[in-house]
Amino acid sequence: MEITFVVNAEVVCLTEPDPTLTLLEWLREGRGLTGTKEGCNEGDCGACTVIVTDEHGARTLNACILFLPQLHGKAVRTVEGIAGPDGVLHPVQRAMIDHHGSQCGYCTPGFITSMTCAHLNGETRFDDALAGNLCRCTGYAPILRAAQAAAVEPVPDWMHDAVPEVGAGGTALPQSSDDLAAWYMAHPEGTLVGGATDVGLWVTKGLRDLGPVAFLNGCIDLQRMDRTEGGLRIGAAVTMDRVHAAMEEQHPAYAEMIRRYGSAQVRNAATIGGNIANGSPIGDNPPPLIALGARLHLRKGDARRDIALEDFFIDYGKQDRAPGEFVEAVSIPDQPDRLRVYKLSKRFDQDISAVCGAFNITTRNGMVQQARIAFGGMAGIPKRARAVEAALMGQPWTQETVRRAQAAFEADFTPLTDMRASAAYRLESARAMLRRAWLEDQGAAISVLEVGP
Ligand SMILES: Cc1cc2nc3c(=O)[nH]c(=O)nc-3n(C[C@H](O)[C@H](O)[C@H](O)COP(=O)(O)OP(=O)(O)OC[C@H]3O[C@@H](n4cnc5c(N)ncnc54)[C@H](O)[C@@H]3O)c2cc1C
Ligand code: FES
Ligand code: FES
Repeated sequence: MEITFVVNAEVVCLTEPDPTLTLLEWLREGRGLTGTKEGCNEGDCGACTVIVTDEHGARTLNACILFLPQLHGKAVRTVEGIAGPDGVLHPVQRAMIDHHGSQCGYCTPGFITSMTCAHLNGETRFDDALAGNLCRCTGYAPILRAAQAAAVEPVPDWMHDAVPEVGAGGTALPQSSDDLAAWYMAHPEGTLVGGATDVGLWVTKGLRDLGPVAFLNGCIDLQRMDRTEGGLRIGAAVTMDRVHAAMEEQHPAYAEMIRRYGSAQVRNAATIGGNIANGSPIGDNPPPLIALGARLHLRKGDARRDIALEDFFIDYGKQDRAPGEFVEAVSIPDQPDRLRVYKLSKRFDQDISAVCGAFNITTRNGMVQQARIAFGGMAGIPKRARAVEAALMGQPWTQETVRRAQAAFEADFTPLTDMRASAAYRLESARAMLRRAWLEDQGAAISVLEVGP
């Protein structure tokens, strides 16, 4: 494998790098660029944030769970590359000083890179842009004031990164679904790496040797979103920030849930295919996708098959996927938007769901005509609430029907008690979510973000 990328405007070529060496380790140990900090080493704190530019633009990523081959053909900017070539401070750096945005300074390089990337992209939703950066001592108000102050300043010339011209890079860096299919047939025991927001932790926390790995970031066709007849086909390697943008118009409740999916750094890396293939019972995409009737496109060698997404999840840790078979895409059928999605987590931002419920309920003349309801966090797999759906179907869409349907949750789910929530709390929350869906249909303002004083 040969990889080429740019670091702070300098082109770097590496031959046969350790495929699971993280960018953070390489920057600090290999390049002496120790401005990028290690806090949690698992994507949670943002101390290691860098800016990465490719054909989709500039975005922030966590260097601690980013493997070097994921950077092939991209440009990286670390905190050392934010000031101008002559040492002049970037407006964000100047504003952080002026507004007293730093105390111990450990988190500061991560904040500076996140704020600089927001500044570069004209992003002013700072709560979202900075939700993945944790500060233990300064407090967020001075940091937000600094971000707001810098926003009115122009982007300095030196901040525009160009990506390098690169070759194919080798078989571990497939360039297409065809290449990947051939590689996986030859290495069915191998590990696919999408965004590495799960796999990265297997290495940094689990200290696992992954064996042969293939990276999906070069597979251009797996990164496509295509309008097909009757739906939207989303390639497996499409990242969550791009799914968010697509859903903002089509299914805003889904987009709103994604806004709380990890942090900007996580959404910029995590792929929809990885979130489905990992089979997690608390992955946030499956509930809305199942409620929307999504279909999963799988490929093994030259053979392709499509299944309903809900059928992919067989049991805890068991999916309908053969050795050498991978997720190629997922498609969402076109339909009028009726989707409601509720994510319940211990922390509002940057937290995995305790319960995630998705409701796609169609009514006509006050009667429930169709109901597709799916949950994460309520069973060993993401699962449809079929008994609840049955209790709603053909019934008047009233409080009384909702009350009766709430009783059906126990027939659908026997949730677990774990560190995120107790079984009883999960069941009660699921029932409350159904009631919330009904209340919102009546026009009630339920979200704590919407209810005024
Ligand atoms: C800080 C942090 C916050 C997080 N917050 C959330 C959250 O709010 N909600 C949530 O749902 N998840 C969350 N996650 C979990 C993680 O981000 C998601 O599960 C993510 O979508 C995984 O995608 P990935 O591309 O990074 O997968 P990877 O880590 O690259 O891969 C995950 C698994 O899928 C396999 N795989 C990847 N692509 C394919 C493919 N195309 N075909 C077959 N197999 C494939 C890999 O081999 C691996 O087994 C969080 C993770 C972190 C670190
Ligand atoms: S070190 Fe905490 S996110 Fe990377
Ligand atoms: S300044 Fe100390 S952690 Fe933020």
